[in-house]
Amino acid sequence: MCGIVGYVGPKDATPIIINGLKRLEYRGYDSAGVAVINNGQIDVRRDAGKLQQLVDLLGKSPLTGAPGIGHTRWATHGAPSARNAHPHVGNTGKMVVVHNGIVENFLELKEELGAEGVIFNSDTDTETIVHLAEHNKAAGISFEEAARRTFKQIEGANVVLLLSTDEPDKIIAARIGNAGGIVVGLGEGENYLASDIPAILEHTRRMIFLESRQMVVLTKDSFRIETIDGEEVKPEIHTIAFDAVSAEKGEYRHFMQKEIHEQVRALTDTLAGRVDFKEGRIRLPELNLTPELAKRIQRIYITACGTAAYAGMVGKYLIEKIARIPVEVVIGSEFRYSDPIVDENTVVLAISQSGETADTLAAMEEGRKKGGIVWSIVNAIGSQAMRVADGYISMQTGPEIGVASTKAFTAPLVDQYMLAILLADLRGVIDEKTRRELVSDLRLVPDLAGRVMDSEADVEKVAHALKDIKGCLYLGRGINMPIAYEGALKLKEISYIHAEGYPAGEMKHGPIALIDEEMPVLCITPKDPWHEKMISQIQQAKARGGMVIAVATEGDDLVKNMADHVLWVPEAPWMLSPIITVLPLQMLAYHIATIRGLDVDQPRNLAKSVTVE
Ligand code: F6R
Repeated sequence: MCGIVGYVGPKDATPIIINGLKRLEYRGYDSAGVAVINNGQIDVRRDAGKLQQLVDLLGKSPLTGAPGIGHTRWATHGAPSARNAHPHVGNTGKMVVVHNGIVENFLELKEELGAEGVIFNSDTDTETIVHLAEHNKAAGISFEEAARRTFKQIEGANVVLLLSTDEPDKIIAARIGNAGGIVVGLGEGENYLASDIPAILEHTRRMIFLESRQMVVLTKDSFRIETIDGEEVKPEIHTIAFDAVSAEKGEYRHFMQKEIHEQVRALTDTLAGRVDFKEGRIRLPELNLTPELAKRIQRIYITACGTAAYAGMVGKYLIEKIARIPVEVVIGSEFRYSDPIVDENTVVLAISQSGETADTLAAMEEGRKKGGIVWSIVNAIGSQAMRVADGYISMQTGPEIGVASTKAFTAPLVDQYMLAILLADLRGVIDEKTRRELVSDLRLVPDLAGRVMDSEADVEKVAHALKDIKGCLYLGRGINMPIAYEGALKLKEISYIHAEGYPAGEMKHGPIALIDEEMPVLCITPKDPWHEKMISQIQQAKARGGMVIAVATEGDDLVKNMADHVLWVPEAPWMLSPIITVLPLQMLAYHIATIRGLDVDQPRNLAKSVTVE
């Protein structure tokens, strides 16, 4: 999970940046670097490995001066190496960048810049940003204007910090499309930037959180925030309480809300180090998956509890569709009692946020006892589910504190999509073109998620309309059917409203009797292969007087004209659509519960990790 720190002021930037990066170490990273402006020149130190390696390098070859920008990188484009570590300097040596996110159009930009003779010195998408900024600057415009043009040209969810020797008194930064956060820290005669509060909390408690498509021009005694389209922004200055919990919550009221928003960054981090966009390939080294092993697998059991099990249901669609291996999902508490048919060619794949859920661990044990291949997808590093597995995929989302699981639902959806591609590749059941397309689609995910986050105020309005409902049916089909289960679970666990997830096609076999003016029906209706079927579901609910709330793809007038309320989502490749359709449902549950005045982070009777049977 990339970390970013910036400093502009009278002191040497490097120690402040290194200290800040140390406080972000918990996010994980595989290389680190710092750049400062010293006597009108850009000076950079960077290395692969841990921060200590960079500190050792700085010991041998110190870096003085300010402003400065620093970065810890988790590889997405290009291997973890000194050459790919940030910061990246442009060909003129006058600009330098650090970046968090994925530049979706980097291949096109790289081609255009390459045709102009720009030389690329790394495999990263990040480097295109600095070359593009220099290219824009060459038109004779100011640093600010060149940065603004650059921010408009890059696509995807990105946070960018730039320095220029032409105007060495400032850092220009932007948050585009919600790639994680960037916070501006306001000091006395010095100012800071960081990807997370703890990095700079020892220097200042006065902070501004940049919104999507906002940029800041920061000098030691001034800050100016505008949208990247040039509209003035009057930012709110937050005073952060000095205790760790408030610092962790930052601008959000609850951990759950923070974690919902954090998914943009968590999804970016999920891809980090695993996806090679250039080659169109997936790497999951901790899974220990060889071509021989992949070819041997005849069946996969996915086992998990609650939200994690619903993630597994989406995984079933993905693995069966992409890798053509039969998959069965068995909830953790049932697995060992169902006498599952496990042999040495069967994978038992456990999914768990905590990695300590007793039923899930028991299912893994059962798989082990029967001689199966035991894998896990786990968030808590070093947990039992990680330790006892033959191979694992680490969720890379960071700690999840809110009891209702959010980011530990969407991350394993991406993990299973990647696993499906890797299995298909190693088993030779996928052609290169399809593989490349599937891998390439992953680039879109963080930005699409960020766009849903931008619609929170609209979701909140719908929450106000629904705050007094007594129950709700959630319907979905195909790959979005498990999202009905998950949406309903989110609502019931934090708002204590009864909610039921149902496969939409099953309605006519019984539950349709429930529908009247008192029973709202939430239909998950994105533009996926089951769209038409879901439309007829909406019609049936309307015909019985039910209030319909739909999750629908932007621009879908058909749904707009039928539903009473619509939660809009951007269009996504259908196999990735559950990652996007679940987001407004998490927000909806969150807002209904807070409007009802409930303890969202610690709902009654629930524990974050269920370590008993
Ligand atoms: C729901 C929720 C639970 C957990 C379940 C499994 O929001 O949090 O349903 O998903 O208890 O927990 P883990 O993933 O820790 O095994």
